[in-house]
Amino acid sequence: MMRPRDLREALRGELTDEELRKIRAFDIVGDIAVVKLPDELLSKKEAIGRALMRVHRNVRTVLLQTSPVGGEFRTRGLEVVAGEPRTETVHKESGCTFKVDLARVYFSPRLAHERLRVASLVGEGEVVTNLFAGVGCYSIVVAKHSRARRVYSIDKNPVAFRYMCENIRVNKVGDRVVPLLGDASEVVESIAGEADRVLMPLPELARDFFGIALRALKRGGGVVHFYDYGAKPDPFGPSFEFVRRAAGERGYDVELLNKRVVRSYAPNCYHIVLDLSVTAA
Ligand SMILES: C[S@@+](CC[C@H](N)C(=O)[O-])C[C@H]1O[C@@H](n2cnc3c(N)ncnc32)[C@H](O)[C@@H]1O
Repeated sequence: MMRPRDLREALRGELTDEELRKIRAFDIVGDIAVVKLPDELLSKKEAIGRALMRVHRNVRTVLLQTSPVGGEFRTRGLEVVAGEPRTETVHKESGCTFKVDLARVYFSPRLAHERLRVASLVGEGEVVTNLFAGVGCYSIVVAKHSRARRVYSIDKNPVAFRYMCENIRVNKVGDRVVPLLGDASEVVESIAGEADRVLMPLPELARDFFGIALRALKRGGGVVHFYDYGAKPDPFGPSFEFVRRAAGERGYDVELLNKRVVRSYAPNCYHIVLDLSVTAA
């Protein structure tokens, strides 16, 4: 059978034009496609799944996202709608290989650019602490693409930790990436004062854990990548105001090195990052 050019062509005759327009963007992670559908298209989920597999020949499984990312481990509900019944896959990004179980850990291929951007900022010999490492994506990209001396890589989800350990081994960065299982607020106590740079890639906890990030930094200070949510008209202002005040209360000055929108969720909801230089006042 001839391979259809796109989803529209693959679903011609099965969905109306109006229904086709309602299919939102989907992600491809390794050989799995993850699709979100509005309620009115749920009765067509198998047909859409089969069509996705015809268009993307490397896709072996199509998963329907049945609930938003949530809970302390930032996982989501997934249902197999086409192909092999599994949620584990191997994803390649920036010369790294990540094994993930999409139903049991957090993973987004949309953060690839941000991971590489952070890695490009890491100086020779730096110690980096990643408070919310998941399966180790930021930590491993940093280790592969910088001359960091050590990357402490913390996560609380035991399943993510297990994949992180495997990913560290497969990517051959075990001499520099140190996986640590537990709540970052407790784990940081054993490595307090060591980091030149701290990554906080969990916007939901950024504000609660900013004090922990400062504990992780060297005494004199360092750089913090502070991920948060923002909205128009000033997506960055409230976050910067928060860190300036929170740092000041702990005896630190903060300078904004860079700010950027990582991605937008809704028309007026942005996932943002502030790159902060923090110095003891
Ligand atoms: C949004 S995910 C980010 C994962 C990873 N940085 C990435 O880009 O793939 C946030 C991660 O933080 C972990 N987490 C949540 N609360 C935590 C805590 N208190 N201490 C350490 N890890 C935590 C979750 O298990 C999850 O893997």
